[in-house]
Amino acid sequence: MEIYESMSPAETAEIADGFAERLGPGSVVALVGGLGAGKTAFVRGIAARFGSGAVTSPTYTLVNHYDGEPPVYHFDVYRIESPDEDTREWMDEYLFGGGICVIEWADNIKDILPDDALRVEIKKDPARGENFREIRIC
Ligand SMILES: Nc1ncnc2c1ncn2[C@@H]1O[C@H](COP(=O)(O)OP(=O)(O)OP(=O)(O)O)[C@@H](O)[C@H]1O
Ligand SMILES: [Mg+2]
Repeated sequence: MEIYESMSPAETAEIADGFAERLGPGSVVALVGGLGAGKTAFVRGIAARFGSGAVTSPTYTLVNHYDGEPPVYHFDVYRIESPDEDTREWMDEYLFGGGICVIEWADNIKDILPDDALRVEIKKDPARGENFREIRIC
């Protein structure tokens, strides 16, 4: 496990960019952390590494596609409480396809994630200031 500390969204993206070095086709990244923790900020750093375009929150669309080499698929499964059969099927096509999948609120679908998914936990700590984030990579 690795632990990083960030003091700004830009620093979080930079940490994510470094982390992304170990990703490739078929990688799955499970992002865990409360509302406003910085999950989307982390995805920005990953997408930047693969030359993909602007990252926006897929809260309503469930998944955004970012073209790149390989492509990055950005999920936000906040609204999925537990995946039904339909959800499993369409998500499997992404999870076992050739892109990089990055999933916000990944614990909501932990039953369907591959065993080798990389887990990234982002936590605030008000005692250390409003912009402080601890980022744990497991
Ligand atoms: N060190 C930091 N890293 C990341 N974001 C930070 C940091 N400090 C402050 N912020 C702020 O926290 C917010 C993080 O927003 P972001 O959308 O990335 O969070 P999120 O975890 O994706 O939230 P949601 O659960 O709503 O999807 C932004 O407003 C950002 O400016
Ligand atoms: Mg988000």
